[in-house]
Amino acid sequence: MAPPTSLIVRLRKVIPSDLAVYFEQQLNPQANHMAAFTSKNATDWAAFDAHWAKILADPQIQIRTILVGGQVAGYVLHHSWFGDPEVTYWLGQEYWGQGVATRALKAFLMQQNLRPLYARVAEDNIASRRVLEKCGFVMIGEDKGFSNARGAEIVEFILVLRT
Ligand SMILES: CC(C)(COP(=O)(O)OP(=O)(O)OC[C@H]1O[C@@H](n2cnc3c(N)ncnc32)[C@H](O)[C@@H]1OP(=O)(O)O)[C@@H](O)C(=O)NCCC(=O)NCCS
Repeated sequence: MAPPTSLIVRLRKVIPSDLAVYFEQQLNPQANHMAAFTSKNATDWAAFDAHWAKILADPQIQIRTILVGGQVAGYVLHHSWFGDPEVTYWLGQEYWGQGVATRALKAFLMQQNLRPLYARVAEDNIASRRVLEKCGFVMIGEDKGFSNARGAEIVEFILVLRT
């Protein structure tokens, strides 16, 4: 059965007005705690804007806005800032728990054929880990890194999608 219209998930290229929505979404304390490896100060619009200007100007980075029922629900992207190509994503909290991230990531992976593709998740970010596993990523190891959101070094899991 087709999902209700409000839950139709689509990807599209980023347009400038999306950034204000991403900014609001990344202010959410619970989301920051989950994602863990976040900016030093989520409330700093100038730093956010400069960071996103770099992202959008980088031809190596593929990024799509996630639309749910036509509204900006978040984004999904892959970058190679630390060497290997890595995928990451972020949704506004009102869109959590409905399978949106899984559908968005599956759609993104159909469009982007870069493999192997890696992902890193805080060890307690169960939702993100589930999203990755449902999209075919498998765990290959762990690492430690400093979490700005938590002010401490934490363990993160490394996953890979090979095909
Ligand atoms: C992580 C995030 C993208 C998940 O989005 P979502 O649309 O809610 O994810 P989905 O609904 O597609 O799937 C979530 C899965 O995790 C499961 N899950 C969620 N919380 C869980 C928990 N505490 N324990 C166990 N499973 C949990 C859900 O049941 C679902 O799995 P299922 O389909 O097998 O039941 C979203 O919460 C988010 O944007 N968080 C903030 C930013 C972030 O963490 N980004 C990822 C950085 S690595």
